[in-house]
This record gives sequence, C-alpha cells and structure tokens, in this order.
Amino acid sequence: MADSVRIVEVAPRDGLQNEAVAVSVATKLDLIRQLRDAGLAAIEVGSFVSPKRVPQMADTDEVVRQLNLDGGVRYPVLVPNEQGMVAALAAGVREIAVFASASETFSQKNINCSIEQSIDRFRPVVEMAKANHVAVRGYVSCVLGCPYEVKVAMNAVVSVSRKLAELGCYEISLGDTIGIGTPWQARDMVRAVAGELDIATLAAHFHDTRGQALANILACLEEGVSVVDSAVGGLGGCPYAPGAAGNVSTEDLAFMLDGLGIHTGVDLSRVVAAGQFISAALGKTSRSKVAQSMCA
Ligand code: HMG
Ligand code: MG
Repeated sequence: MADSVRIVEVAPRDGLQNEAVAVSVATKLDLIRQLRDAGLAAIEVGSFVSPKRVPQMADTDEVVRQLNLDGGVRYPVLVPNEQGMVAALAAGVREIAVFASASETFSQKNINCSIEQSIDRFRPVVEMAKANHVAVRGYVSCVLGCPYEVKVAMNAVVSVSRKLAELGCYEISLGDTIGIGTPWQARDMVRAVAGELDIATLAAHFHDTRGQALANILACLEEGVSVVDSAVGGLGGCPYAPGAAGNVSTEDLAFMLDGLGIHTGVDLSRVVAAGQFISAALGKTSRSKVAQSMCA
C-alpha cells in the first residue's frame, strides 16, 4: 500500500450539487477556506454546467473569481463542453475535470449525449486546456453499477478510462456513482483498469449508499491506489443518480488512513469542523461517523 494518500475533497461540488437548500457564494468560500486550512491540497469547487440542470453550481464562476488561486492548492471544476470551458477559462481556473460514464444510459441522462459523443466533446475542451496550461482530470461514472442499466461491463470501464487518458487526463477518477459495489468488485475493477493504465494515475471515488465505501477504498488501496475522493459530512449525490447517497466522508477516510499509518497531511479536527460548518448551513446532521463521535 502507498505510504501517503492524496485526498481530493469534493464537498463544494459533488457535496452541494444535489442539495435542496441554496448555499451562498460566501458560505461556499468559507467552506473552501476551512477545507484548505485543514490541509486539503485539492478541493473541487464547482461545475461549469447548465444552471437549469444543476442550479446549485450556477455561481461557480463567482466562487472561482473570489478564490485566491495562488498558494499551491488545486481547485478543479467540472467542465462538460466547450461552452463550459470558455466560462471556466474566463474565470481563471487552473484545473478542470471532464466527466464521462461507463454506462450509455447514464451518459444520456447526465450529459445528454452518448459515451462516444462525450469523448468527442472533451477533445476540444482538452485542447483548450492544454493551450492555457490548465490541468485536466477525468471521471468515469458507474464503474460498478448504473441507476438505469442492470449491469455495466468491465470492458466499458477500461475502455472509457483509456480514452480519457489518451485525451490527456493526468488522472482518472473511478466513480461508484450509486454506491453499489462491494470490496472484491472494487478490487477487480481497479485491477482491470490498472492492466491498461498506471495505477499511480487512478483515483477512487466512492458513494456510500450501502455503507461499503470505506471497505471498497481499502480494497483499492491494497491494489496500490493512492488518490481518494471524499466529501466532508459525507455530502454528495448526483441529480441523475436517483437514490444515491453521499460520498465517503473525508472525516472517516482521514481517520481510517491515519489508523493505517498512511500520511494525508490533513488535520482531522479541522476537517471535522469544516464538515460541521457545512452540515449546519444545510440544516443537516453530518453523515460522518467520526464527526458524530467527536461532536457528541
Ligand atoms: P445540452 O442540453 O446537451 O446542451 O446539455 P446544449 O448545448 O443543447 O444546450 C442546452 C442549454 O444548456 C443551452 O441553454 C446552453 O446555453 C446551456 P438555453 O439556450 O436552453 O438557455 N449550456 C450550458 N450552460 C452553462 N454551461 C455549460 C453549458 N452547456 C450548455 N457548460 C450539458 C449538456 C452537459 C451542459 C447538460 O446536460 C448539463 O449541464 N448536465 C449536468 C451534468 C452534471 O453536472 N451532472 C452532475 C455531475 S457528474 C457526477 O456527479 C458524477 C461524479 O461525481 C462521479 C461519480 O460519482 O461517478 C463526477
Ligand atoms: Mg460523485
């Protein structure tokens, strides 16, 4: 197993994109600063997608403009097409993430195009990114199951991952969007993708719908994965993945990694405080077990 793990904090994006309560730009910035001060060195801060489809992310432009992008922390944003990329560049982003799916139906529901069309749409986006020295991460959704299709083929996961890497994504985040996988399935999926791509370029993105996220992450760590996405408070969900719960919580992930002797650079008490802050702003109880025990 790796002796250090890079946590990619996704609460300001994945965590908030499906919330019913509107969150102001000021609250988002407060959250992002707390996450940064907790030692998180990669924080996904929003999406340049259709505001009609995902209203919670409509102010990403403002969030990015008010962030201090200097200082070594990465602040990626989701970008689905050229229109989003033009807006992201105008706001000054330095890192984006394009997002594809291993399931055709999810691709259609989420981004209104086929998997192949999505790769074609990302090509000019990545070209624009390269021309502007913007780093590009890639997501593959539905790697262990889909809300609309009975089964997702492993070779679809491998093929989409390879295509994103060929486009120029420096890292591929493998998403169990609906939180349906179990550890050996996660392990086999990572092994299959790592058969084609360097394990150092793979990240784990697990939603915790069925309480399997930490176990699945451990299975991925045992395969050599060293980048894990998570969200404080266990926030998260996708408007096009009905019934999916939040991401694995950063608090629980950081606690587990610390217990395994794996370095993260994260200050647990500050991460817990950030999770409590945003959970209170949303009027929710944190889903993090560690936060619940520390704040009882
Ligand atoms: P479309 O309908 O195919 O696009 O949307 P279009 O080109 O036909 O345009 C339709 C309208 O959208 C037009 O506006 C465009 O201006 C606008 P109208 O004329 O109707 O007023 N539009 C845009 N507006 C702002 N920014 C843009 C943009 N593009 C078009 N970039 C699109 C295609 C992808 C934009 C749309 O389907 C969309 O926004 N979908 C939402 C996708 C999304 O954010 N999903 C959640 C994130 S993915 C996720 O959560 C999974 C992940 O966490 C990993 C995991 O868990 O597995 C990453
Ligand atoms: Mg997600």
